[in-house]
Amino acid sequence: MSHRIVTLPGDGIGPEIMAPTLELLRAVGDFEFEEHLFGGASIDAHGVPLTDEVLDACRRSDAVLLAAVGGPRWDTTDPDRPRPEQGLLGLRKGLGLYANLRPVKPLPALYDASPLRRERIEGTDMLVVRELTGGIYFGEKTRTATSASDICSYTTAEIERIARTAFGAARAKVTSVDKANVLETSRLWREVVSEVHSREFPGIALEHVLVDNAAMQLVSSPRDFDVILTENMFGDILSDEAAMLTGSIGMLPSASLGGESASGDAAGDGRGPGLFEPVHGSAPDIAGRAIANPLAMFLSAAMLLRHGLELESEAAAVESAVQRALDAGLRTPDLGGDAGTAQATRAVLDNIE
Ligand code: IPM
Ligand code: MG
Repeated sequence: MSHRIVTLPGDGIGPEIMAPTLELLRAVGDFEFEEHLFGGASIDAHGVPLTDEVLDACRRSDAVLLAAVGGPRWDTTDPDRPRPEQGLLGLRKGLGLYANLRPVKPLPALYDASPLRRERIEGTDMLVVRELTGGIYFGEKTRTATSASDICSYTTAEIERIARTAFGAARAKVTSVDKANVLETSRLWREVVSEVHSREFPGIALEHVLVDNAAMQLVSSPRDFDVILTENMFGDILSDEAAMLTGSIGMLPSASLGGESASGDAAGDGRGPGLFEPVHGSAPDIAGRAIANPLAMFLSAAMLLRHGLELESEAAAVESAVQRALDAGLRTPDLGGDAGTAQATRAVLDNIE
């Protein structure tokens, strides 16, 4: 039975990195792809970044593969005009994708591509577990001529389920990141994470670190992290910072998964489709030049295979092909080389076993 994957190329370099990713997926399995407009492309066609039809198509799929959204064409601070990013937030919320997994494991071939010294990053292998459907991103927003506000709120149930994701993924330690010296949401976060820990995962070590300190430790001793568990906005910021350990944000994949409803029980018939996307954006500055690094997108496809479709050996095949291509010297411009998207794609496809 072939798996049904909804593909959302989006904007900027999105379509340029989606096309080779479908080629790669076809090389490892049998999939049905259903492409839809999303983000700015959907605003241009329909006036909104995510239509109900597209959200329904995603709900009916086995997994959703997204490239990137946004660009200067749709940039606006006018609260009444549609923005591509609203489509992304609507998709995350609409599919109940509360758990965002961002693995950060610099490949030895790229140790020297990182702005940090090799000795600093060698052996780094961490997973950022970011809460994705709560917090300040989704709280009430207000705006008057002279003031604005964004509410940050979390419930115990929202914190419990993401804490379970983090402890479940940890090998040895969870570093829970908050701002408990200032924020009430962070104090609740700390309490709930500690409770889930002592009740359900006493065998895993737990430490609480303030977000400013965590930002520092990420560059001073990245090796010391195993799983970083954090709320929506801290996770957004820290994952971009962590991305630089790998040499380029063009290397970082992500998976957004749902499953457990905020009331504590499994949603419907278990887990719905996950969303898989690179951490980087639509890179409008290099769009249309055929030089975008497709590797984060390829690695996101590998996460789709593993977490979305439970095709572990296919996922591993993609990951090792990427690794072998880099070992053999593949470098796109963001990694200091001059390989274009097509050349990078060929290098990876040639290494699929
Ligand atoms: C990310 C992005 C998004 C976020 C933006 C595009 C809304 O930065 O996935 O990290 O802030 O979550
Ligand atoms: Mg971000």
